[in-house]
Amino acid sequence: MTPVIIGPATLHLGDAYTLRPTLGFHDADVTDPPYAFRASGGGRYRKARRKLMDQIVAEQLDKGFDMAVIDPMLCGAAIVFAHNEQLPALLSRLNGHFHRHALCIWQKTNPQPVANKHYRPDVEFYVHAWNRGYHPAGNLAELLRVSRIGAPRGPARFGHATTKPDALMSKILANVRGETVCDPFMGTGSTGVATIRAGKRFTGIEHNPAHFETAVARITAAVAELGRAAAA
Ligand SMILES: C[S@@+](CC[C@H](N)C(=O)[O-])C[C@H]1O[C@@H](n2cnc3c(N)ncnc32)[C@H](O)[C@@H]1O
Repeated sequence: MTPVIIGPATLHLGDAYTLRPTLGFHDADVTDPPYAFRASGGGRYRKARRKLMDQIVAEQLDKGFDMAVIDPMLCGAAIVFAHNEQLPALLSRLNGHFHRHALCIWQKTNPQPVANKHYRPDVEFYVHAWNRGYHPAGNLAELLRVSRIGAPRGPARFGHATTKPDALMSKILANVRGETVCDPFMGTGSTGVATIRAGKRFTGIEHNPAHFETAVARITAAVAELGRAAAA
């Protein structure tokens, strides 16, 4: 499939595991892959989030991903979101393949007002791992590990069950060193929008045609916005 090229962004509709090895070295892979967790079962949490959880199950966003797709030969740094229960395996993989890593936290200012026999869903995790020369960028304020930001609601989800907020992705991009970013599981293109706004080049992969079209539209708008700002 021919990629869609939008200024400094190249978007591929297809499979991450087949395509990512063919796309060459990027300064960073920044990605929010499918989480691995038990989405079945009942409880107040499931009831409160029925529509979202049904979408998550239908799109298999609860089945995890093959961590081998994060290849230290293909990126200087990796920033990877993970569910609580994926962290031991993810930390082990990144610790073994990169020079250093840090566990970072997105604390939601608007968590769902529910809990089962577990904690409230008020945090998500990501791991930033890097090799020499690709350590985190940013000033002191930008180098905090905890970000307190609201989760997208309604139209800001762009029809996706697990859209990441623009403010969080912009904070993360401020910590990325280098000029090229790849997201093998780009969903609606949140990493791409933040990458374009940060003035870097973006490569994205998504296998769901509806989410791919959303990413094309969002990144087209981000590139146009940058063009208008440059012309002003
Ligand atoms: C957690 S979501 C990413 C959401 C994204 N951060 C956003 O803000 O829109 C993971 C995405 O990976 C996609 N995906 C899952 N397996 C894939 C694969 N093998 N190849 C390409 N995309 C895949 C899913 O369709 C989903 O949109």
